Amino acid sequence: MADSTALRKAKTAKQDEFYTQYADIQAEINAYLEYDPDTFKGKTVLLPCDDPEWSNFTRFFAENFSALGLKKLISTSYAPDTKREKYGVLFDWAAGDIDKSRGRIFVLDRDVTGDGKINYDDIKWQYLRGDGDFRSEEVCRLRDEADIIVTNPPFSLFREFLTWIVTAGKSFLIIGNMNAITYKEVFPLIMSNRMWLGESIHSGDREFGVPKEYPLEAAGWRVDEKGNRFIRVKGVRWFTNLEHGRRHQPLQLMTMADNKKYSRHKEVKCVGYNKYDNYDAIEVPFTDAIPSDYSGIMGVPISFLDKYCPEQFEIVGITKTWFGAANKVYPEQIEVSPNGKRKRVTKLNDGASLKLTKEPDGETYYLVDEAPYTQLYARILIRYRMEK
Ligand SMILES: C[S@@+](CC[C@H](N)C(=O)[O-])C[C@H]1O[C@@H](n2cnc3c(N)ncnc32)[C@H](O)[C@@H]1O
Repeated sequence: MADSTALRKAKTAKQDEFYTQYADIQAEINAYLEYDPDTFKGKTVLLPCDDPEWSNFTRFFAENFSALGLKKLISTSYAPDTKREKYGVLFDWAAGDIDKSRGRIFVLDRDVTGDGKINYDDIKWQYLRGDGDFRSEEVCRLRDEADIIVTNPPFSLFREFLTWIVTAGKSFLIIGNMNAITYKEVFPLIMSNRMWLGESIHSGDREFGVPKEYPLEAAGWRVDEKGNRFIRVKGVRWFTNLEHGRRHQPLQLMTMADNKKYSRHKEVKCVGYNKYDNYDAIEVPFTDAIPSDYSGIMGVPISFLDKYCPEQFEIVGITKTWFGAANKVYPEQIEVSPNGKRKRVTKLNDGASLKLTKEPDGETYYLVDEAPYTQLYARILIRYRMEK
């Protein structure tokens, strides 16, 4: 295999082969149970994209089958050969004497062993007809049968996976990277309150299991005493349409004048708020700096969604080109990198920009008709919903 192909496969594999930890699944499920102990009662739960023999999703739901009051648990896996074909030799760990060209299905709905309990020991597996691709007809049928879909989908297919769930009108709880928020297949669901962030992860990083052959080049990694490998991933969030209650707590915020006087952020204290050059909104660089008395549109970082209370704020857009809320289109610009290197680009259009009074030091900036601009990360556009 050519080097670049090997690298590309490893990169895709890195995004797709992350195994969720039991404690992270447990913490999140507990939030729904605290809100409504019957969240899973009488429900059929489907865990697609799983490796049931060692998936913590399968383990968690099987071990808690009775406590959750489940009707049925179905978990499907993707064929080892298909993984190898897609990702290369990185994933040659697939277990023993099985048909590696087919996916498998594990079903739990009754006490098979006769020990009076429904648990992991009662799981029966069979081959699927195909490779277990979630888009296949047989897995689509399982989706249609399910009430709730729970998994860590392959990140490279995150948009397609979410669309697959939402078009079928299912409840879901999936884990992924928060950057997905800015995708045009994802953001409209958040904006219309048909999806929100889960309860248990709002900052820091989380540990995920990775295959034994996985190249350990991430910043934080660990190998346990059995040789199992783990890496730490930043920006992870749960995405769901299950109610957990906590998202209805409004933020307590200071007025614009008080933020200017007392904000703990140097970007706001004594500075105040800038208006974007290409959107009709002000820049609010931190969620806790949202002014309590501003009635116009405000641009906030995507991490605002960790605190988003739909009764307090209305989401009106996002500063991405595909959304189309910008009020101007820049001509070609000159990008000036921190080392002074210049090139012609058009990327100032993909985001909110601020016009600067002078060229900044040590930062990339853009020149339009010789005036300097800076571009911000994606911003969510919000305004107050309540009477102020
Ligand atoms: C991020 S891993 C998560 C595994 C498991 N759900 C967990 O968190 O422990 C995603 C899994 O989906 C599998 N996968 C990739 N493409 C798939 C597809 N088209 N259909 C079903 N599964 C797929 C990957 O091989 C991988 O095992």
